[in-house]
Amino acid sequence: MNPSVLILNGPNLNLLGAREPALYGTGTLAEIEAACRAHARGLGLEVDFRQSNHEGELVTWVQEARGRHAGLIVNAGALTHTSVALLDSLRAVELPVIEVHLSNIHRREPYRRHSYIAEAALGMICGLGARGYLLALDALAEIVRRPGPGP
Ligand code: DQA
Repeated sequence: MNPSVLILNGPNLNLLGAREPALYGTGTLAEIEAACRAHARGLGLEVDFRQSNHEGELVTWVQEARGRHAGLIVNAGALTHTSVALLDSLRAVELPVIEVHLSNIHRREPYRRHSYIAEAALGMICGLGARGYLLALDALAEIVRRPGPGP
Protein backbone atom coordinates (compact mmCIF):
# COMPACT_ATOMS: atom_id res chain seq x y z
CA MET A 1 0.00 0.00 0.00
CA ASN A 2 1.40 3.40 -0.98
CA PRO A 3 1.75 6.11 1.70
CA SER A 4 -1.29 8.35 1.87
CA VAL A 5 -1.37 12.15 2.02
CA LEU A 6 -4.34 14.08 3.41
CA ILE A 7 -4.97 17.32 1.50
CA LEU A 8 -7.22 19.68 3.45
CA ASN A 9 -8.90 22.80 2.10
CA GLY A 10 -10.63 25.31 4.31
CA PRO A 11 -13.51 27.80 3.99
CA ASN A 12 -14.57 29.19 0.63
CA LEU A 13 -12.13 27.08 -1.37
CA ASN A 14 -15.18 25.19 -2.69
CA LEU A 15 -15.92 28.41 -4.61
CA LEU A 16 -12.68 28.38 -6.61
CA GLY A 17 -13.27 29.17 -10.26
CA ALA A 18 -16.00 31.69 -9.43
CA ARG A 19 -14.37 33.35 -6.43
CA GLU A 20 -12.18 36.40 -7.13
CA PRO A 21 -10.63 34.87 -10.26
CA ALA A 22 -8.10 37.70 -10.56
CA LEU A 23 -6.62 36.50 -7.27
CA TYR A 24 -7.27 32.78 -7.31
CA GLY A 25 -7.51 31.93 -11.01
CA THR A 26 -10.34 30.29 -12.93
CA GLY A 27 -9.54 26.68 -12.03
CA THR A 28 -11.95 24.85 -9.76
CA LEU A 29 -11.16 22.85 -6.63
CA ALA A 30 -12.23 19.71 -8.52
CA GLU A 31 -9.55 20.49 -11.11
CA ILE A 32 -6.94 20.94 -8.38
CA GLU A 33 -8.03 17.62 -6.88
CA ALA A 34 -7.69 15.86 -10.27
CA ALA A 35 -4.23 17.38 -10.80
CA CYS A 36 -3.18 16.28 -7.29
CA ARG A 37 -4.43 12.74 -7.87
CA ALA A 38 -2.58 12.43 -11.19
CA HIS A 39 0.61 13.90 -9.75
CA ALA A 40 0.45 11.76 -6.61
CA ARG A 41 0.03 8.61 -8.71
CA GLY A 42 3.34 9.38 -10.43
CA LEU A 43 4.97 9.83 -7.02
CA GLY A 44 3.56 6.59 -5.61
CA LEU A 45 1.29 8.36 -3.11
CA GLU A 46 -2.38 7.93 -2.29
CA VAL A 47 -4.42 11.11 -1.84
CA ASP A 48 -7.38 11.88 0.40
CA PHE A 49 -8.61 15.32 -0.76
CA ARG A 50 -11.18 17.20 1.32
CA GLN A 51 -12.74 20.63 1.78
CA SER A 52 -14.80 22.05 4.63
CA ASN A 53 -16.19 25.43 5.57
CA HIS A 54 -16.24 24.33 9.23
CA GLU A 55 -13.28 24.77 11.55
CA GLY A 56 -14.31 21.91 13.85
CA GLU A 57 -14.64 19.48 10.96
CA LEU A 58 -11.14 20.33 9.77
CA VAL A 59 -9.79 19.87 13.32
CA THR A 60 -11.46 16.44 13.54
CA TRP A 61 -10.01 15.39 10.18
CA VAL A 62 -6.53 16.44 11.31
CA GLN A 63 -6.94 14.44 14.54
CA GLU A 64 -8.07 11.38 12.57
CA ALA A 65 -5.02 11.56 10.28
CA ARG A 66 -2.79 9.91 12.86
CA GLY A 67 -2.16 6.30 11.83
CA ARG A 68 -4.01 6.79 8.52
CA HIS A 69 -1.85 9.25 6.63
CA ALA A 70 1.86 9.83 6.24
CA GLY A 71 1.60 13.60 5.91
CA LEU A 72 -0.69 16.56 5.33
CA ILE A 73 -1.00 19.41 2.85
CA VAL A 74 -3.17 22.20 4.22
CA ASN A 75 -4.69 25.26 2.60
CA ALA A 76 -6.73 26.49 5.54
CA GLY A 77 -8.14 29.53 3.72
CA ALA A 78 -9.00 32.33 6.13
CA LEU A 79 -8.59 29.99 9.12
CA THR A 80 -4.87 30.32 8.45
CA HIS A 81 -5.03 33.77 9.99
CA THR A 82 -7.38 33.04 12.88
CA SER A 83 -7.34 29.45 14.07
CA VAL A 84 -5.28 28.46 17.09
CA ALA A 85 -7.51 25.33 17.24
CA LEU A 86 -6.33 24.21 13.81
CA LEU A 87 -2.73 24.97 14.78
CA ASP A 88 -3.08 22.88 17.95
CA SER A 89 -4.49 19.92 16.00
CA LEU A 90 -1.65 20.11 13.46
CA ARG A 91 0.91 20.16 16.26
CA ALA A 92 -0.78 17.27 18.06
CA VAL A 93 -0.98 14.99 15.05
CA GLU A 94 2.83 14.80 14.77
CA LEU A 95 2.89 14.30 11.01
CA PRO A 96 4.77 16.30 8.38
CA VAL A 97 2.63 19.28 7.32
CA ILE A 98 3.10 21.54 4.31
CA GLU A 99 1.06 24.74 4.17
CA VAL A 100 -0.14 25.90 0.75
CA HIS A 101 -1.81 29.08 -0.46
CA LEU A 102 -2.82 29.85 -4.02
CA SER A 103 -2.15 33.56 -3.59
CA ASN A 104 0.94 35.20 -2.15
CA ILE A 105 -0.37 36.06 1.31
CA HIS A 106 2.62 38.37 1.85
CA ARG A 107 1.59 40.61 -1.06
CA ARG A 108 -1.93 41.11 0.21
CA GLU A 109 -3.68 42.78 3.14
CA PRO A 110 -1.57 42.99 6.32
CA TYR A 111 -3.96 40.69 8.23
CA ARG A 112 -3.12 37.86 5.81
CA ARG A 113 0.61 38.04 6.47
CA HIS A 114 0.42 36.12 9.72
CA SER A 115 -0.29 32.40 9.59
CA TYR A 116 -1.06 30.59 12.85
CA ILE A 117 -0.63 27.22 11.23
CA ALA A 118 2.85 28.03 9.89
CA GLU A 119 4.19 27.14 13.33
CA ALA A 120 3.16 23.51 12.73
CA ALA A 121 4.35 23.35 9.13
CA LEU A 122 7.67 22.12 7.78
CA GLY A 123 7.30 24.66 5.01
CA MET A 124 4.91 26.96 3.19
CA ILE A 125 4.31 27.41 -0.54
CA CYS A 126 2.32 30.47 -1.51
CA GLY A 127 1.68 32.56 -4.58
CA LEU A 128 2.18 29.83 -7.17
CA GLY A 129 -1.48 28.96 -7.67
CA ALA A 130 -2.51 25.31 -7.97
CA ARG A 131 1.09 24.40 -8.77
CA GLY A 132 1.79 24.89 -5.06
CA TYR A 133 -0.19 21.74 -4.23
CA LEU A 134 1.89 19.71 -6.69
CA LEU A 135 5.16 21.10 -5.31
CA ALA A 136 3.96 20.23 -1.82
CA LEU A 137 3.30 16.66 -3.00
CA ASP A 138 6.84 16.48 -4.43
CA ALA A 139 8.25 17.58 -1.07
CA LEU A 140 6.07 15.21 0.96
CA ALA A 141 6.93 12.26 -1.28
CA GLU A 142 10.58 12.80 -0.41
CA ILE A 143 9.91 13.49 3.28
CA VAL A 144 7.74 10.43 3.92
CA ARG A 145 10.31 8.17 2.29
CA ARG A 146 13.26 9.75 4.09
CA PRO A 147 11.94 11.04 7.41
CA GLY A 148 14.23 13.14 9.55
CA PRO A 149 14.67 16.69 10.73
CA GLY A 150 13.32 19.44 8.51
CA PRO A 151 15.22 20.72 5.49
C1 DQA B 1 -5.82 31.49 0.65
C2 DQA B 1 -5.36 32.83 1.26
C3 DQA B 1 -6.23 33.20 2.45
O1 DQA B 1 -5.81 34.46 2.98
C4 DQA B 1 -7.67 33.33 2.02
O2 DQA B 1 -8.49 33.61 3.15
C5 DQA B 1 -8.17 32.12 1.30
C6 DQA B 1 -7.30 31.53 0.30
C7 DQA B 1 -5.04 31.14 -0.63
O3 DQA B 1 -5.07 29.99 -1.03
O4 DQA B 1 -4.42 32.03 -1.24
O5 DQA B 1 -9.29 31.69 1.47
O6 DQA B 1 -5.57 30.47 1.60
